[in-house]
Amino acid sequence: MAVSAIFAAVMSSVSDSAFTSYEPTVAPVAATHIGSPRRFFIETYGCQMNFNDSEIIASVLSAEGFQLTTDCQQADVVLLNTCSIRENAEQRVRARLSEFQSLKRHNPGVLVGILGCMAERLKAKLLEEEHIVDLVVGPDAYRSLPQLIARAESGQKAVNVLLSREETYADISPVRLASNGVTAFISIMRGCNNMCSFCVVPFTRGRERSRPPASILSEARQLFDSGYREVTLLGQNVDSYRWEDPATHAVVTFAQLLDQVASVHSELRIRFSTSHPKDITDDVLSVMADHPNICRNIHLPVQSGSSAVLQRMFRTYDADWYRRKVDRIREYLPDCAISTDIIVGFCGETEDDHRQTLEMMDYVRYHQAFMFRYSERPGTYAARHFPDDVPDAVKSRRLQEVIQLQNAHQLQRNREQIGKIHHVLVEGPSRRSPQQLAGRNSQNQMIVFDARQALKGRYVQVKAVSCTSATLIGTLCPEPTKHLND
Ligand code: 5AD
Ligand code: SF4
Repeated sequence: MAVSAIFAAVMSSVSDSAFTSYEPTVAPVAATHIGSPRRFFIETYGCQMNFNDSEIIASVLSAEGFQLTTDCQQADVVLLNTCSIRENAEQRVRARLSEFQSLKRHNPGVLVGILGCMAERLKAKLLEEEHIVDLVVGPDAYRSLPQLIARAESGQKAVNVLLSREETYADISPVRLASNGVTAFISIMRGCNNMCSFCVVPFTRGRERSRPPASILSEARQLFDSGYREVTLLGQNVDSYRWEDPATHAVVTFAQLLDQVASVHSELRIRFSTSHPKDITDDVLSVMADHPNICRNIHLPVQSGSSAVLQRMFRTYDADWYRRKVDRIREYLPDCAISTDIIVGFCGETEDDHRQTLEMMDYVRYHQAFMFRYSERPGTYAARHFPDDVPDAVKSRRLQEVIQLQNAHQLQRNREQIGKIHHVLVEGPSRRSPQQLAGRNSQNQMIVFDARQALKGRYVQVKAVSCTSATLIGTLCPEPTKHLND
C-alpha cells in the first residue's frame, strides 16, 4: 500500500468465475499468430470499479480470441489498468513501466498499454513521457481495444481516450478474474457529476450514466446460479442511479433497483458502494430495512469533520448535516455499520479543522475507514484555486492521529461483538492459515474460524471469542444456517 494511502482495513479484492456472452460490436480482429492465440496480461490499480473494468476488458479480449495469462513474461500484450486519484498511484504505475523496459528488451514485439484513469488524464502526452507505451486507452474506449492492438501491431502508436455519455458496457459479461467464486462486483453506473474540488474522477471518468436494470438483474441471477452468494453494486455515486425506460419513460431509482436486486434470491447478499451523503435517501434506507439480505453497511465518505473544509471541498453538506444523516441511518437500521473515506491536510486545514475530524470520528465510530493525505491533482478546482499549504510533516502527523483513532474504534467495535453469534458468508481459506476459513458478517467485519474448507460459499453461524482491531476470531456453531434471516 502506498505511503499516503494507508488503509485501516483491507477491502476484499474479490472476483470470480467465467461466462462470456459478449457479442462484439466491433469488426473482428484475427487474434492468432500463425495458429497460436495471442496472450494478454492485465494488472489493475485503484478502486473496485477499476477491478471490475479489468474483468470487462478481459471479456472484450477473450471474445476476440486473446488468451489471459497471469505471467507477464508470456504475454504478447501487457496492460496496466491505472488510477489517478493520488499522485503516488501514478508514480507506482510509472515505476512498474520502468520494470517492463527489460521485458521489452528481451521481446521487442510485446505491446504495452496504459488503460483507465491515467490514460484519460494524460492522453497522448503519455506516449511522449513513457516511450515504452504503445497503447493509451481511456475508461470508455475498451470496446475498441482489439482494433487499437491491431494498429499498434502495425507499428503505430494507438490512442482512444474519448469519453462517452452512454457507454455502460451493459451487454458485456465480465470474465471474473482472481475469483473466490463467492463474491462479485456488478457495475451499475459510471462517471460522476459531483465536482468535489480535490477530485480528478469527473475528468477521468466523465458524466454519470446508468446501466439498464434488466442487464444488472440478469448478471445478478447468473452469478447466483453459478454459486455466487454476494454481489456489490458499484458506482462512483450509486445513489444517483437513475434509469429511464426509453419507450415508457418510467424511471428506476437506486432504491427501486436495490429492491429488485435484493429480490433475486434471499440467499444472495447485496452490498453497494459508494454513497454520497447528499444523495442517499430515506427510500434507500427503507428498502434496506425491508431486505435482511442487503448488508448492514453503508460506505458514507465524510472527507472532513470541519464545515469550513467541507465547504472548500464542495461537498455540499456541513458537519451537522452529515451527523444528522448518520442519525437517520441508525433510526432506520440500528445495527448498520458505517464506513468512510477521510482526507487529511486539505488546503487551508487548521489544527482546529483537524480536531473536528477527530470529533466526527468519535461521533460516528466508523466500522472501517480509508484514510488519505491530500494529494494535489492537476486541473482540479483545488489545484487551480487553493494553495496546497499544509506541510508534509503535518499531513503525516495528522494521518497518523486519524489512523490511531480509527484503529481504537475498530478494536472497540470488534470487542463489542465478542460472545455474539454472527451470520457469516464463508469466502475461503483465511490468509494466515489453511486450517482456518474467513468470511464477513453483514456489517462487513471479517471473521476467521477453524473449519473444513467445504463450507466455502455457505452461510454459517460463528460465535466471536476474541479479536484484533482488524479481525474477529470465532468458533463455528454446530449447525450451519441456510438462510440469512434464520
Ligand atoms: N487526495 C487524497 N485523497 C483523495 N481522494 C480523492 N481525491 C483525493 C486527493 N486528491 C479520496 C477521497 C475519495 C477516495 C476514493 O479517495 O477520500 O472518497
Ligand atoms: Fe478508480 Fe478513482 Fe482511481 Fe479512477 S481515479 S481508478 S475511479 S480510484
